Amino acid sequence: MTLKSYLAARAKEVDAALDRHLPKKSAAPATIHAAMRYTVFAGGKRLRPILCLAAAEACGGTLENAMLPACAVEVLHTYSLVHDDLPCMDDDDLRRGRPTCHKVYGEGMAVLTGDALLTEAFLFLAQTPATKRYSAKDYVAELALTGGSRHLIGGQVLDLEGEGQKATKARLVKIHEAKTAALLMSSLRLGAMTANATPKQLEALTVFGHALGHAFQVIDDILDVTQSTEVLGKTAGKDAAVEKTTYPSLMGLEKSRKEAAKLTKQAMDALKPLGKSADRLHEIAAYLLEREY
Ligand code: IPE
Ligand code: IPE
Ligand code: MG
Ligand code: MG
Ligand code: MG
Repeated sequence: MTLKSYLAARAKEVDAALDRHLPKKSAAPATIHAAMRYTVFAGGKRLRPILCLAAAEACGGTLENAMLPACAVEVLHTYSLVHDDLPCMDDDDLRRGRPTCHKVYGEGMAVLTGDALLTEAFLFLAQTPATKRYSAKDYVAELALTGGSRHLIGGQVLDLEGEGQKATKARLVKIHEAKTAALLMSSLRLGAMTANATPKQLEALTVFGHALGHAFQVIDDILDVTQSTEVLGKTAGKDAAVEKTTYPSLMGLEKSRKEAAKLTKQAMDALKPLGKSADRLHEIAAYLLEREY
């Protein structure tokens, strides 16, 4: 299967699972469930769940066992976007090609939509089958650590506090690792855990996810400068408008592209201990470097 059809097939499977596991649109109170589904089904790339499923397969596991954690990382990610777009944060009107959650449902409802999606993530993990080495307790701890103030929220804090200020490269690396790389890494780790991964497999995927996640945010920053709003499905040029320090603002586009390529190479090298079973992950890393949105 080509990578393109693989990604499309996986995204479809993830969408079907999200549809099964999320509360129905008509469930009371209907407003919040409509708002949750509005943002989740707006058409994201589903990268984090796809990484989760691919990691499970690379470690000899099944899609079935990895599907709930795949849904968990996607709803947690979607919550982070809903809050990231709020007027008090990045103040964005467009997300995944649609008006943002708060534009449609109002700010109060968007805050609650994010809260509900975040909470749902842990319900999914609590329901994930245990393996010999890992239990639901491990899955929950993994995502709680990554989603909390030590990583994702911590990164958003530094990002918010950094607006209008010139950050050093060291600070920028810290922001990228925390706000973005940590969740990509945990997506892979959770998939691997549902496959009863060995410590060696888990370590390889951790190193891979760390570098890949860092590269992913560098590319996001590049695309914010080079790509159109139409293609991105979110407002282009936002970072410069609020004077965020990004790789392009710090070192220019060319050096940023080199940095993204270097990090992607580091990520690929980390897959070596997994051998042929990691071919898909290798391909995904190459695709992410070249992505247009
Ligand atoms: C956007 O993530 C936010 C970042 C961490 C850069 P994605 O580019 O994965 O967004 P979707 O899920 O495809 O909408
Ligand atoms: C978002 O980073 C990271 C999280 C939501 C945790 P950005 O603010 O760069 O993401 P976009 O560009 O709005 O998608
Ligand atoms: Mg942001
Ligand atoms: Mg943003
Ligand atoms: Mg961005």
